[in-house]
Amino acid sequence: MRFGICTLDEFNLQGKTVLCRVDFNQPIDWENDALKSTARIEAAVPTVKEISDAGAKLVLMAHQGSDIEYQNFYNTRPHARVLGDLIGKEVKWVEDVCGPTAREAIKSLKDGEILLLDNVRYCSEEQTLFEMKLNLSHEEQARTQVVKKLAPLGDLYVCDAFAASHRDQPTLCGFEQLMPSAMGRLFEKEYVVISELMESPEKPCVFVLGGSKISDAFIMMETVLGKGVADKVLTGGLVGNILLHATGQDIGKGSVDFIYAKNYEDYIPKAKALYDKYSDKIVLPCDLGYVEGGERKECTLGDVPAEIGAIDVGAETIKIYQQLIMDAKTVFVNGPMGVFEEAPSEAGTKAVFEALGDTNAYTVVGGGDSVTAAKKYKVTDKLGYVCTGGGALIRFLTGEELPVVKALRYAGSKFGPEKK
Ligand code: 3PG
Repeated sequence: MRFGICTLDEFNLQGKTVLCRVDFNQPIDWENDALKSTARIEAAVPTVKEISDAGAKLVLMAHQGSDIEYQNFYNTRPHARVLGDLIGKEVKWVEDVCGPTAREAIKSLKDGEILLLDNVRYCSEEQTLFEMKLNLSHEEQARTQVVKKLAPLGDLYVCDAFAASHRDQPTLCGFEQLMPSAMGRLFEKEYVVISELMESPEKPCVFVLGGSKISDAFIMMETVLGKGVADKVLTGGLVGNILLHATGQDIGKGSVDFIYAKNYEDYIPKAKALYDKYSDKIVLPCDLGYVEGGERKECTLGDVPAEIGAIDVGAETIKIYQQLIMDAKTVFVNGPMGVFEEAPSEAGTKAVFEALGDTNAYTVVGGGDSVTAAKKYKVTDKLGYVCTGGGALIRFLTGEELPVVKALRYAGSKFGPEKK
C-alpha cells in the first residue's frame, strides 16, 4: 500500500473481473470521428496491459468531454480503436454504459479480454452539473444506477484516472464503498511525483496559466499565490483576456463578447480582486495576436479591431514570458496561450513550450491541452514531468484531499489488500 491506498501489486488478477476507471478524455476531431490527440490513452497503456496480461477480464470506464463545456461530448468508440492499436490486441466496445447490453458484454468477457464501455457521462448521475448541484456523498454515489448495476459484476475496482481525481462522481468515488479497490500504475506515478514536487519547489517558481478552463485557472492562481508557491504567474488565453478586461484594459469588443457568451462574467470581479492583491506577481499580456482574413496580425492593447477577438498573446509578451521562463528554477504550465491548433494563432503557445525545452528550470506541464502542445512542439522528452491531469493537479495544489484519493483510502481501510 502507498498513502493508505492499495496498488496492483496487492491483488491476484487472474480470472477476476476488474472494473477500471481511466481518463481517456481528448479533443475530438468531429469530421473524422477520431481523436486529435492520443496522449492520455498512451499514458494508461501500462495499467491496461498489466491487468489484461495477468489474465483478468478488464472492463474500462471513461468519460469523454464535459456536459459543462459541451465541446467534446462524444462516444468512446474512437478510444477503443486507438487503445487496440496501441496494445496490439482487440478492445471491444459497447454502445452502452450500464444497461442490459453493457452488462451482457461484461458477462461474456473471457480472461484477458478488454471491453470499453461508452462515455460514462451519458449517465445523468455522472455529469459534472449533477455533481455540482447535488454534491452526493460517497455513500450516496454507491447507490447510483451506474454503480449499482456494474459493481455486482466486478471483483476489483481500479482507478487509473488521476486526471479526473478532482471529480466527485460515481464511477470515480462510488465503487470504493462496495468493493476492494486499488490505484492503477499511472495514478500511482502521478500522485507520487506531484506530492514530492509541491512540497518545496525551487525558487524562483513561475506558473504559466492559460487556456479556457477558467475555474481551474482561477483556483490555481489563488492557491499558488496565496501559499507563496508562485513568484510569478504569466497569463494568456482566455484567462489572460479576462484579467485584462477586469483590470480595465481594452481587449476589443469581440474578446469581451466571447467572455459573456461563455458565461464567464462572474470571473471578472474575481480577476480584479486577485490582480489588486497580487499585481506584483501576476503578469498580463502587453500585446495580443488576432486573425484577420486567415492571417495573423498583432496589436497593442486597445487596438484589437472591435469585432475580432484576440486569440493569442503578442510578440512583446512572448519575449517577456520566454525570459521569465529562462530565469526560473521551477516552471509549471497549465493551458495554452492561444488557439495553438491553428498556425496563425499558435505563436504564443509555441514560444512558451520551446522555452520550456530550453530552460534549465525543472518543468512541469499539466492538463490535456498542454500535454498535446508539448507533443506538437516536440519538447515532451525535455520536460521534467508531464502530468495528464490539469484540474486534478490544481485541486491537489490547494491542499485539499482529492475525492478519489479519499475514496481509495476508504476502500484500503475497509477491504484492505487481498491476502495472496
Ligand atoms: C480533464 O480533462 O481535465 C479531465 O479529463 C477531467 O475533465 P473535466 O474537467 O471535464 O471533469
